Amino acid sequence: MVDSEALLSALNTHIISPRITYLEEVHSTNLMAKDMVRDGGGEGIVVIADRQVGGRGRHGRRWYSPSGGLYLSIVLKPPLGDSSSPFLGIMLANAALRALEESSMIKAHLKWPNDLLVNERKIGGILGELVVSEGGDALAILGIGINTSFNDSDLPEALRISATTIAKESKIVPTQEDLASQIINNIDQQLREVRERQALDFILKEYRKNCTTLGRAVLVELPAGTLNGIAVDIDNNGMLVVENGDGQHLVSAGDVIHLR
Ligand code: BTN
Repeated sequence: MVDSEALLSALNTHIISPRITYLEEVHSTNLMAKDMVRDGGGEGIVVIADRQVGGRGRHGRRWYSPSGGLYLSIVLKPPLGDSSSPFLGIMLANAALRALEESSMIKAHLKWPNDLLVNERKIGGILGELVVSEGGDALAILGIGINTSFNDSDLPEALRISATTIAKESKIVPTQEDLASQIINNIDQQLREVRERQALDFILKEYRKNCTTLGRAVLVELPAGTLNGIAVDIDNNGMLVVENGDGQHLVSAGDVIHLR
């Protein structure tokens, strides 16, 4: 259960004006937020649910969403024009890492593009989708799922080995309100900085520092096949740079497997 009053009072935002919709069960918070945008809503919509029955993951996969996880979607406007929309996912990833550290003293890392890992096990994931509002503005629906405290038996067997939860990694398990408010506050803080500096480079700097993919041998699964090499950089647009005997390859989307 989320106490919407407690969540609202823990929020400290200057750019985003959050409007919270909380439900015990929903198909997908991302889909619900998308419907709300289609119905005329805009930046600041936040949808939180205790569980999802149709949770969506990247590449059309399912996101298992039993009770004991945080399922949150937020609608945001790209801060420096439409081309800055990919940076919103990066800001959410930075915000989630900060929130895990602040709330539970967990040091999580990022697997490119947006997997939240603790000791190579997945504790959360992010799904960003773009929509156009009634007024013609590009808006991003940013969804995050964090495994808070459910049991292994709540997940299909195939996922149990690769997933972890806050409760497994820390003695301090935050309330949904704490975790959600810290994520939203940390996004807002980055948006404020972007507005002040009119720049995005510091967002990527924080992301790179926490990205465990960098320097690793990787296998990238692309629609056209696989790519093997070393992940040497994340470029200024957030793309992964993979180097192998054929030179450097820019990857804009794909599934990365860390080989060592
Ligand atoms: C991934 O595949 O790693 C991304 C998972 C994103 C899951 C979150 S949970 C809240 C929001 N609603 C959804 O249906 N998906 C995202």
